[in-house]
Amino acid sequence: MDVYVNGQWTDRDSATVDIEDRAHVFGDGIYEVIRVYGGVFYERDGHLDRFERSAREIGIKLPVTREELLQLLHEGIRRNAVHDGTIYFQVSRGVAARKHPFPDPEVKASLMITTKEAPRPVEAMEKGVSAITCEDIRWLRCDIKSLNLLGNVMANQKAVEAGAFEAIQHRAEVVTEGSHSNVMMVKDGTVYTHPANNLILNGITRMRVLALCKENGIEVQERECTLSEYESADEVFFTGTTVEVMPVISINGTSVSNGTVGPVARQLQKAFEEDIEVQTKEVKLL
Ligand code: PDD
Repeated sequence: MDVYVNGQWTDRDSATVDIEDRAHVFGDGIYEVIRVYGGVFYERDGHLDRFERSAREIGIKLPVTREELLQLLHEGIRRNAVHDGTIYFQVSRGVAARKHPFPDPEVKASLMITTKEAPRPVEAMEKGVSAITCEDIRWLRCDIKSLNLLGNVMANQKAVEAGAFEAIQHRAEVVTEGSHSNVMMVKDGTVYTHPANNLILNGITRMRVLALCKENGIEVQERECTLSEYESADEVFFTGTTVEVMPVISINGTSVSNGTVGPVARQLQKAFEEDIEVQTKEVKLL
């Protein structure tokens, strides 16, 4: 696999990163993951917008223009012949002696790009998955797609150790999101999910799924829901670039509703699949 690092493409095995890059001493940077279907980006512009926003929010000046970044992302897909997979890209505040304040004088931010071939999680989406709940211990700017993922890593590891697919995080009684996905619940036909504020990442898939709800006449309420509301929901599902619309059939070992995938999740999976087809076909025609 070819990766982009230090301003050039190089083989993954010979790629190196400076020991004083702020990405790994402070997690001082931001990232994005874009899904690739049939060699074509899905929701590309939404991810690029969020990437630029994350950089702005933490005062990082991106080392490339949007057009240059786009060209590099296309180059990554082409070089590695990614068919169904993801492209990962991150920018850190650059290389400087380890001191907490931003480097002064300013240094050039470091851009890194990698790709991965990954099939769609078809079987898990068909059957549904299990989840655990855990306390959301993260900082108060979860809206920034920061490289600091320790809270997310700890939550995901708890899920893995419990044999579950994903963790549903909560602050006190309020459900926020998954460790690498957003979470939604359905009650009496209405889809509920946490409002897009500083306590969650406003997922590109989240926004797309909420738009698909509206297009399909499904009512949406973006409001705080409690753990007990989730536990007595008709349906629960995760959304995200890598998980698409992933139904949750059990939480902490107890079935959600009757323990099977519900009709709203099924309807949204179908709408999502159609959306992938439409978006990727449109791009191919351009
Ligand atoms: N994670 N919330 C968190 C904490 C996430 O890390 C992600 C995505 C999402 C879903 O966002 P989107 O729909 O834009 O992918 C929500 C990526 C895929 C990751 O870290 O690998």
